[in-house]
Amino acid sequence: MGKKRRLSWAVMVDGRAIWTRNAVPKLSQYGESLRRFKGTEYRRWDPTRSKLGAALSRARHTQYDLLPQDGDTCLYLGAGHGTSLSHIHDQVCGIDNQKNGRIIAVDLSPRCLRDLVHLASLRPGLVPVLGDARKHSAWGIMVASKVDWLLQDVSQAGQAEIFINAVKRFLKKGGKGLLSLKAASERFNEGGEREVFQNVRDQLEDAGLTIEEQIDLHGLEDNHCLYFVTN
Ligand SMILES: C[S@@+](CC[C@H](N)C(=O)[O-])C[C@H]1O[C@@H](n2cnc3c(N)ncnc32)[C@H](O)[C@@H]1O
Repeated sequence: MGKKRRLSWAVMVDGRAIWTRNAVPKLSQYGESLRRFKGTEYRRWDPTRSKLGAALSRARHTQYDLLPQDGDTCLYLGAGHGTSLSHIHDQVCGIDNQKNGRIIAVDLSPRCLRDLVHLASLRPGLVPVLGDARKHSAWGIMVASKVDWLLQDVSQAGQAEIFINAVKRFLKKGGKGLLSLKAASERFNEGGEREVFQNVRDQLEDAGLTIEEQIDLHGLEDNHCLYFVTN
């Protein structure tokens, strides 16, 4: 067993493993293990199943800053089946949304939405939305005020542009934005993946965003990096 330290009220690091305080006690969301620390149940955050989990494991300077605060309002574009989302919910909302947080989770796929709706029935504070991250006019009304934290993980071409538009429209001044970028979804030139990562970095900076850290996820999520920015 490694040395334990807390990243927040709900997130614990034990050696190399990251754990979140389970907001739905006794329930494992995606087959992850459950364990008690001092009488409280935690779920293991598998960094090979979650890019945010991988980024938390790999961050060099920003491990304590990447996650939203409890009670924050968050926007998640490309929430998928809810793997990473469930851990964010543990942090932002907790049991019965004791922290009064709100996470708007958008995905394009009806199959994912079904899973997200089920997750929301167990996890109050979660708001699933069927929508295209590029088409704010269709679902933007669900985001009543600007958010504290925005994560995008859509794995489709034009990821940086989609992210910049979302940040401009939905992220509070001083908020945190996380872009999980899959290089293989973008067009490659001879420079390959490295060039894609550099081009995206340039795009983010040209849009006036400050890059707090660019986190390479190689080995946990190949072909990916995660940009942590503030505006
Ligand atoms: C890599 S998966 C997300 C995994 C999830 N973020 C997690 O860590 O648990 C990418 C998701 O983005 C969704 N997606 C792709 N393009 C999208 C778009 N334009 N708008 C919204 N969702 C999109 C896909 O349906 C898919 O569920």
